Amino acid sequence: MQPQIKIADLTVNRLGFGAMRVCGPQVWGPPRDRAAAHRVLRRAIELGVDFFDTADSYGPHVDEELIAEALHPYPKGLVIATKGGLLRPRPAAWDPDGRPAHLQRALEGSLKRLRLERIDLYQLHAPDPKVPFADSVGALADAQRAGKIRHVGLSNVSVAQLEQARKICPIASVQNEYNLGDRSSEDVLKACERLGIAFLPWYPLGAGQVLRKEKIKSIAKTLKATPAQVALAWLLAKSPVMLPIPGTASIPHLEENVAAAALELRAADLAALD
Ligand SMILES: NC(=O)c1ccc[n+]([C@@H]2O[C@H](COP(=O)([O-])OP(=O)(O)OC[C@H]3O[C@@H](n4cnc5c(N)ncnc54)[C@H](OP(=O)(O)O)[C@@H]3O)[C@@H](O)[C@H]2O)c1
Repeated sequence: MQPQIKIADLTVNRLGFGAMRVCGPQVWGPPRDRAAAHRVLRRAIELGVDFFDTADSYGPHVDEELIAEALHPYPKGLVIATKGGLLRPRPAAWDPDGRPAHLQRALEGSLKRLRLERIDLYQLHAPDPKVPFADSVGALADAQRAGKIRHVGLSNVSVAQLEQARKICPIASVQNEYNLGDRSSEDVLKACERLGIAFLPWYPLGAGQVLRKEKIKSIAKTLKATPAQVALAWLLAKSPVMLPIPGTASIPHLEENVAAAALELRAADLAALD
């Protein structure tokens, strides 16, 4: 059994699945092979993954639809985390819309597509510079009071924004970019540790880039592991609040990534990577 982690009152295995990669190229439109995408999602469940991360903007909408098609009725204990607050007018655009009315509509859409009455973890995808941050978070707090969200999470925030949001409602998680090649959110990770908030590093594999680093490749070779497994084991060793969500559209990569939960890096490896 995998080691576990708490997101407020929810307990999940420490390696989650970032579902973004199962929709079409550039996270736009349907996948080339819908049945293959379903197989990846179902294989994750078979491997014991019980935390899936998605967003209404992935596809847009397609990712949530694929999850429901492949997995509904959901197995007991499965936590699906989704996000709202970004618009996709075209493939390369990820435009923030943090207006409360938009977030309410986005949440209703996610509930419908995911076939849920309440979303276990609903994350504000990114602060919208055009909208007071407190208004966006306030909309999620209202939805939580209305019973449509179990826990509120944030994404792409600073420590100051995390502190500001916590004055409005309890925050269960933060999802920021963090991996062996990008530690710019180290201060946010430390704040999450201090506050007992789950930290979901996005791009845990640096979107594949960190796997090319020579240091990682050489540690992987010594441990008879793969670079992806070293990158994920490093994240797991880095902090007790870390919940990595590696993404893939490949079953062999998924199997390899899940197996990383059992890989222990030696003190010398951790020192070399730090
Ligand atoms: N909050 C945000 O703003 C935000 C932004 C980006 C992502 N996210 C979330 O974070 C999740 C993870 O991010 P991500 O999927 O973009 O990046 P990632 O997990 O760092 O890397 C995924 C990339 O690495 C490849 N890969 C995966 N496993 C591999 C393995 N074992 N060996 C070699 N290559 C491997 C994948 O290709 P293959 O398909 O070929 O395996 C894919 O190209 C997303 O799914 C999404 O849920 C959130």
